[in-house]
Amino acid sequence: MKGLSVLSRAKVNLFLEVTGRRPDGYHDLLTLFARINLADSLTLRPSAKPGIRLSVVNKSNFVPIPQEKNLAWRAADAFYRGFRLEPALDIRLVKRIPAGAGLGGGSSNAAAVLEGLSRLHRRRSPADRRRLARLAAGLGSDVPFFLAGSVFCEGRGRGEKLKALALKPGRHTLVLYFPGFQVPTPGVYAALERPGPAAVSVSRRDYRRLIKAMFSGAGPAAWAPLMRNRLEDPVLPARPAIARARARLSAAGAAGAMMSGSGSTVFAAAGSRAEAARLARALKPCKGMVFLAEFA
Ligand code: C5P
Repeated sequence: MKGLSVLSRAKVNLFLEVTGRRPDGYHDLLTLFARINLADSLTLRPSAKPGIRLSVVNKSNFVPIPQEKNLAWRAADAFYRGFRLEPALDIRLVKRIPAGAGLGGGSSNAAAVLEGLSRLHRRRSPADRRRLARLAAGLGSDVPFFLAGSVFCEGRGRGEKLKALALKPGRHTLVLYFPGFQVPTPGVYAALERPGPAAVSVSRRDYRRLIKAMFSGAGPAAWAPLMRNRLEDPVLPARPAIARARARLSAAGAAGAMMSGSGSTVFAAAGSRAEAARLARALKPCKGMVFLAEFA
């Protein structure tokens, strides 16, 4: 069997409201996922040797962890168990997406492994797709979005109930700022003061306005000011470096600057390359990494 190379793109959340707490301890969300062209690459190579081996080439802030803890490895393990196949696989992962950054890097890797293995092993029937979707949801709340294969998806429930949206963001360049440190997601949800019903209903109205603006084809000047992320409430006061970068982007004229997911990345949407370059320059005094990206 021949090997397979797959791209594993990152995401940003253009909108994220916490609409409730669930009996299973997770939170119900209303979120808008957007895939971007900042990406890791993965090679899956069937092996003569039994087992799953993962090697990582670090081009970002990746800190080595036991391979069994890596979502790419865990996705392969879940695939072979779920489809009752004997594992014999080498995975090579080139890591460019910062980890612990709200960009869904690990979740994207997991989805890419599930997708790649389903191709290699020809598990492509509708029943196989349903099984893959279940495996994805078991690996993490953001994994189903990456498996869905759409650039834009509305997410509800834990983020696994998805609706693909054919949005038209207009001409844009995203400026992403990663401050160099991770923000672990569980702590963010634990520290969150849940919004009351009135705040949630204001958010739902803002969300509808955002979607409408993004369907209209108007550029970021029309839709970026409507972006919201409830998870900024617990994170920004506790992490001045994130708040400072966000303030710098706003002061430099960004139509909207916001944290992605549970952080630590902050991003802004510019209407032109020149504006993006100006926003990136405003981040010069901040230590960390700046990326330019597009929805993809
Ligand atoms: O599903 P995932 O592993 O990405 O979630 C990490 C943590 O984030 C969970 O353990 C939970 O504390 C929190 N979370 C949540 N509600 C969500 C998604 C994540 O409470 N919808």
